[in-house]
Amino acid sequence: MAAEILQLGLGLITQIGHREVHFRTHRSASGAVALRTADDVFLLASQCADIGVAKQGASTLGRLADLADLDSLLRRVRGGPVPLTGVEVSASFLGRRNFNRYDVEDTVGHALARRLAVRYHSRRAGEGPPRNCTGWRVTLDGEHATLMLRIADRPLHRRDYRQRSVPGSLHPPLAAAMARMADIRPGHTVVDPSCGAGTLLAEAARQQPRARLYGFDLDVSALRASEENAAGLPVGFVRADAGHLPLPDGSIDRILNNPPWGGQVSPGGLLAASTSFWWAELRRVLAPGATATVLLPGLEDLPTGIRHGLVPIHLQRVRISGAQSFLVHLAAPGKQERRKPRGRYDTPM
Ligand SMILES: C[S@@+](CC[C@H](N)C(=O)[O-])C[C@H]1O[C@@H](n2cnc3c(N)ncnc32)[C@H](O)[C@@H]1O
Repeated sequence: MAAEILQLGLGLITQIGHREVHFRTHRSASGAVALRTADDVFLLASQCADIGVAKQGASTLGRLADLADLDSLLRRVRGGPVPLTGVEVSASFLGRRNFNRYDVEDTVGHALARRLAVRYHSRRAGEGPPRNCTGWRVTLDGEHATLMLRIADRPLHRRDYRQRSVPGSLHPPLAAAMARMADIRPGHTVVDPSCGAGTLLAEAARQQPRARLYGFDLDVSALRASEENAAGLPVGFVRADAGHLPLPDGSIDRILNNPPWGGQVSPGGLLAASTSFWWAELRRVLAPGATATVLLPGLEDLPTGIRHGLVPIHLQRVRISGAQSFLVHLAAPGKQERRKPRGRYDTPM
């Protein structure tokens, strides 16, 4: 995300913390809505010391609203006098507390609504806020209580293209981060061997519209979903087994994939018999020096990839819905380092 902020020229990075990247911008705030690797982007409104664990602390958080220069913040986000229909707040905190997120949201929400003379829409009853509300966020990180104002009309991780979702669909900002890591260049051929709803390819096509992109999946309903999600983008979809791809040896520049194990989807076809078929196909179709960027639920299978001749060049731990996964970037050996290529019908190791 920090690399994307710098690339878009949004400002200077001032801090990288727990699930947060802070940056200082001198440009209009609206440019930041172009970020694709961020779940959301906010303007810093105010900060005070964290309130600790006690329930009474939550009721003092209204002062965050008093400390903020609300007029200036709203001018920066809205550009002009757009009528406000209300206020909504989402809160989160680190560690155990004797209050819940709704206690924090309601205290800050009522204080903001009072100052702005609009209605506060609480999430406590599970209802979503109406459109055109200003979105506020409160975080308690053990050191600071922080109030922020959402820049976009809705959280950035919601994508207009996401018409359809199927089980196992990747979170779009994570797919965008994987596509960035893959460093796709104009003219590259990019493949997702088990593409599901096509999130990785939809994000990759937006980052590099001059690449050729192809998605494969065994499940016809997943292919239909990905066709809808990638409508208008240069992506082709074909029904195939990721263990036996209809692609020539050494023909692919970039592979992007989260394979169907360890998550909500079970492997089918050849992959149900052995993950070796997947590794063997990755190695077979990658051109010399080409790379695969994959999301794995664990590392126990990585030696199989190494035995197939793939070289891990970057490894990063990520948490997805509380569970640990690994982003792994692997390279196929370059021309000089290349061993005898393995044919499609070689027995996987
Ligand atoms: C975790 S999902 C992929 C999500 C997707 N990458 C995205 O961007 O949203 C895994 C997919 O693997 C597919 N699958 C399972 N076994 C397969 C196989 N042998 N060949 C191809 N696809 C397979 C499932 O149908 C499912 O759609």
